[in-house]
Order: sequence, then structure tokens, then C-alpha cells
Amino acid sequence: MLAWSDDLDVGNPMIDSDHRHLVALVNQLAEALSTREAPAELGRILGELLTFTTAHFAREEQLMQRIGYLDFAAHKSQHDGLLSDIAKLQRSFHRGEIALSERSSAFLCEWLLRHIRTSDRLLGKVAGSLVAA
Ligand SMILES: [Fe+2]
Ligand SMILES: [Fe+2]
Repeated sequence: MLAWSDDLDVGNPMIDSDHRHLVALVNQLAEALSTREAPAELGRILGELLTFTTAHFAREEQLMQRIGYLDFAAHKSQHDGLLSDIAKLQRSFHRGEIALSERSSAFLCEWLLRHIRTSDRLLGKVAGSLVAA
């Protein structure tokens, strides 16, 4: 499980509040996988994770464009990579490959922590408390 800690704060209230929700969703997914939750419940959490992650990335990207963020292209390509991984995870789930989903849920956790501590932290420093337009 992924515990929220203050070192995950990047200093932008919009981004930090989104990240708390993302961490909660990734934890819900990990827990549902480990307790062999019903497939319908797994599918619901996966769908919510994909929807929320898409919306969160869009908010960060709008913010980057608003402030003319120099690292926009590289940051967006990290987002696009993860969205395609989550979509793959969803497909493998629908094919019934639960073992793959468990590995992927661990991967999601690691990706999220690494991205928040590096790319999003830099963005938070530059954006301060600005919100997307
Ligand atoms: Fe983020
Ligand atoms: Fe990001």
C-alpha cells in the first residue's frame, strides 16, 4: 500500500489534491486485487482510475500551457505513456489476466511516486499556487 506523506506535496493545491485522490485509487486497486475482489468491482476501480488520471493529466497540461512551461512536451509524453499503460491494464483485465494486473498495479504505484517526486515537483515549483485557466 502507498501511504501519503508530506514529501509527496509539490506545493500546488490543485495538483496535490488530485495526487491524494490518485494515491487512494491506486491503493483501492491494489487492495481489491489482493483480496480477490469480484471482477465487477475491479473493473469499476480501473475505470475510475483511468477517468481520473486522464482528467488530472489534462489539468496539469492546461496549467503548463497557461504558464508557458518549458518542459511541457517531455512531461506530457510521460503522461501519455502512463495513460496507454492503464488502457493496456484494462484490456488485460478484460481478458481475465489477473496476475498481470497485479504486476501492473505495483508498476502503477512506482510510476506515480517517481513522476510526482520528479516531474510534478518541478512543475509545482514553477507554477506555485496557480490553477489551470
Ligand atoms: Fe500529477
Ligand atoms: Fe504530471
